[in-house]
Amino acid sequence: MLRFVSLAVVALQLAATAAFALPAPGCPRKCGGVDMEYPFGIGPNCSFSDGFSLECDVDDTPRLRLGTVAKEQKVEVLGVDLLKGKIRTANPIASQCRLQEKRLVNTSWAGLNATALPYRFSDEDNRFFAVGCNVIAFLDGTASSFDDPILIGCMSTCFGNESSIGRNGSCSGIGCCETPIPRGLSSYSPDIRPLQADDNKRCSYAVLMEAASFRFETAYARTDKFYRNSNNGTVPVVLNFAVGNETCKEAQMRSSQPGRGGSYACLSAHSFCVDALDGPGYLCNCSSGYAGNPYLPDNGCKDIDECATRNHACPDGMICTNFPGGHNCSCPQGEHTSNKTGVLICESNLKRSSLPVSVITVIGVSGGLAIVVVSILSTYLMRQRKALADAKRSYFKQHGGLLLYEELIRSRQLGNTFTIYTEEQLEQATDGFNDSNILGHGGHGTVYKGIVPSSSGDLVVAIKRCKLMDERNKKEFGREMLILSQINHKNIVKLLGCCLEVDIPMLVYEFVPNGTLYHLIHGGGGAISFATRLRIAHESAESLAYLHSFASPPILHGDVKSSNILLDESFMAKVSDFGASILAPNDEAQMMTMVQGTCGYLDPEYMQTCQLTEKSDVYSFGVVLLELLTGKRPLCLAGPEEGRSLSARFVAAMREKRVDEILDEHAKSEASCELLEEITQLALECLHMCGSDRPSMKEVAERVGGLRKLLHHHPWTTMQDTVELEEVRCLLGGSPESMRFEMDATSSSGY
Ligand SMILES: *[C@@H]1O[C@H](CO)[C@@H](O)[C@H](O)[C@H]1NC(C)=O
Ligand SMILES: *[C@@H]1O[C@H](CO)[C@@H](O)[C@H](O)[C@H]1NC(C)=O
Ligand SMILES: *[C@@H]1O[C@H](CO)[C@@H](O)[C@H](O)[C@H]1NC(C)=O
Ligand SMILES: *[C@@H]1O[C@H](CO)[C@@H](O)[C@H](O)[C@H]1NC(C)=O
Ligand SMILES: *[C@@H]1O[C@H](CO)[C@@H](O)[C@H](O)[C@H]1NC(C)=O
Ligand SMILES: *[C@@H]1O[C@H](CO)[C@@H](O)[C@H](O)[C@H]1NC(C)=O
Ligand SMILES: *[C@@H]1O[C@H](CO)[C@@H](O)[C@H](O)[C@H]1NC(C)=O
Ligand SMILES: *[C@@H]1O[C@H](CO)[C@@H](O)[C@H](O)[C@H]1NC(C)=O
Ligand SMILES: *[C@@H]1O[C@H](CO)[C@@H](O)[C@H](O)[C@H]1NC(C)=O
Ligand SMILES: *[C@@H]1O[C@H](CO)[C@@H](O)[C@H](O)[C@H]1NC(C)=O
Repeated sequence: MLRFVSLAVVALQLAATAAFALPAPGCPRKCGGVDMEYPFGIGPNCSFSDGFSLECDVDDTPRLRLGTVAKEQKVEVLGVDLLKGKIRTANPIASQCRLQEKRLVNTSWAGLNATALPYRFSDEDNRFFAVGCNVIAFLDGTASSFDDPILIGCMSTCFGNESSIGRNGSCSGIGCCETPIPRGLSSYSPDIRPLQADDNKRCSYAVLMEAASFRFETAYARTDKFYRNSNNGTVPVVLNFAVGNETCKEAQMRSSQPGRGGSYACLSAHSFCVDALDGPGYLCNCSSGYAGNPYLPDNGCKDIDECATRNHACPDGMICTNFPGGHNCSCPQGEHTSNKTGVLICESNLKRSSLPVSVITVIGVSGGLAIVVVSILSTYLMRQRKALADAKRSYFKQHGGLLLYEELIRSRQLGNTFTIYTEEQLEQATDGFNDSNILGHGGHGTVYKGIVPSSSGDLVVAIKRCKLMDERNKKEFGREMLILSQINHKNIVKLLGCCLEVDIPMLVYEFVPNGTLYHLIHGGGGAISFATRLRIAHESAESLAYLHSFASPPILHGDVKSSNILLDESFMAKVSDFGASILAPNDEAQMMTMVQGTCGYLDPEYMQTCQLTEKSDVYSFGVVLLELLTGKRPLCLAGPEEGRSLSARFVAAMREKRVDEILDEHAKSEASCELLEEITQLALECLHMCGSDRPSMKEVAERVGGLRKLLHHHPWTTMQDTVELEEVRCLLGGSPESMRFEMDATSSSGY
């Protein structure tokens, strides 16, 4: 058994200084026909960092300088795709040959050790191939995303004569095998092992290479044709590159702080930053409508002239006008756009009724025949096109899209920016609903992060794809969207748009970056001051009160919980997933099987009546308030049975006047006795068994607001002031039966 030498490769110049250089004037831009655009560069002070520094050899070949432990190596660069963040390099084929009973292994193999370099083997573009008979080939590597070493491999066998070896173009385990590689692979070494000692096949090969460049031929199995067909023993491999070792957010933040070595690379106007998917670092890209080099300052990204391209950017018969960042299709004078058939066309402004009767007669007689012929011909073509548009339009109509559309045009003049997105737009925004863009799974569906173009540049949004919706609600959907689109409150996640042309509509929300309140409290991220807790409670209460008072009948949230309260950059609360009732079944039969809301937060009265009211939200808010005050989860399945429900524990503790046992230490040390008494009393009232005895959301918001002012008057409560909770007088209203569910409240997404 032969084992390749460990091919750890060490970059020679890794003193990766954070110092950040723009390309000095006079840097060569090309080498051997390959564009060497910044952040890549040839020569000193020409590249973004040492990892991007290339050499242009005397034979006019661009090379990346690397080295094995033993000796220096240079890897030939075949091409660079700046916007996709990829470079192609030549990768040597590893081979194992048998020469007269002796085995000879060619070790002229160099890979990349990118642990200190900005490169990773692309898992999308490459696969690990083995070519030969009766061998197992392994790839032994490391990836930034996995702590353990990676070992993958495949087996290739041969039997019979030439005619039984697979087919051209099919690498299926006979004479050839292949395997995908894990994401983020940064270094690897290949290993080939024969299955049988007496095989008379001369050579076997293994290589990690660009899958699109590999095509198996039956002759490869038993000859060295694969090696001979390669470029002097090398084949292309695709590397992903990334700038720096930080995320976009971190890099932006650091560069905005002077004196901290800011080196944010997306310098061009009309550029944006994308976090690398397969490891640390980020990439820059040009905003939609622009192309060029986003890494160059000022105007590296240049406007694309859509109208200059051959395949028209506008439908036939329309006039194309280019403007920075986009283009505009309009109709010639005397015509207007029409969208009746779902396809944009230009239509004459002239209307039949405006013509004199005699003219109509002339046109009617002479044109009639022609119209009949033309219409028969075009009917067939139209029908096919129509069938496709019809499916989309029927969904659109089903969801009340037409009504919504009309209303929107009216309200747009009032400054409403609600947008109806097409399916394609949202697919594009989320990279085809790629799993890597999933922000979370909620009770009602999956939430994706996406980037949509808007009038003020690219906009990061959260797109919610719902799981199911009941028939009745479908019809109401457009109207409900209209109401929700008008909701505008700083503590409510803004609904920016929706997509109606799919079976189940998708919703587009503003993106809120800092996670959920649930994670803030239970994520172990450190202590939260009592003032912050009170502020978040106040903001949440205000937004719910706003929802309840916004329309008639009131908009109910229906699923108030800490994981539906999101936090923005400055940790301001933003309530999300409101109007959940719209997306949930509403008739009795379905209600029996699908209880809305989340265990631990559910209004006990709702469980009996199946009637969601404003007071159900008040109850759930009470539980959130408890989470803020105690730092405990609403359901704790680990504990004794009677202690599983936080609300039941709290009510029992209040009754027995030992509420201090479950209050958070910070709350006890930072808040005065008086304040704690007030707020626990409020929570108790919210949790009243009988909905009509609970305060309204408006009252709750006012009372929490009042307590916040109280806290400001006594900002520095000392230890002596710490409340003696035995003294707290708690008068209990009802005595809730403790409610228990065998479910957890944690698996929710927020939106
Ligand atoms: C890659 O290089 C780093 C130092 O640059 C070294 O610590 C690491 O062990 C190397 N990895 C492999 C797999 O050789
Ligand atoms: C990121 O890179 C800089 C310099 O390039 C280095 O100082 C820093 O330690 C690196 N951080 C991490 C987390 O690797
Ligand atoms: C590269 O930049 C450094 C610092 O800015 C400077 O000292 C050095 O002379 C430059 N080298 C060349 C070849 O321009
Ligand atoms: C940059 O934008 C181009 C064109 O829109 C796209 O093809 C490419 O995948 C984007 N690159 C990244 C890293 O998102
Ligand atoms: C192995 O290397 C030797 C010399 O280094 C060369 O002659 C031979 O063709 C190589 N064989 C294969 C299959 O790579
Ligand atoms: C290959 O084997 C098959 C069946 O074993 C036989 O029919 C065929 O003639 C053989 N072809 C050659 C070229 O030997
Ligand atoms: C396979 O491809 C090679 C080279 O392209 C060709 O010579 C050969 O005839 C092909 N074999 C089959 C069975 O198509
Ligand atoms: C082929 O590779 C060998 C070493 O791997 C090198 O010495 C030789 O110059 C290369 N030949 C060509 C034509 O590139
Ligand atoms: C498109 O161009 C027409 C004619 O120049 C202009 O009236 C219209 O406002 C433009 N629309 C947009 C969205 O720029
Ligand atoms: C035209 O109508 C179709 C559906 O009827 C819609 O999807 C499309 O967005 C409309 N286009 C414009 C420009 O309004």
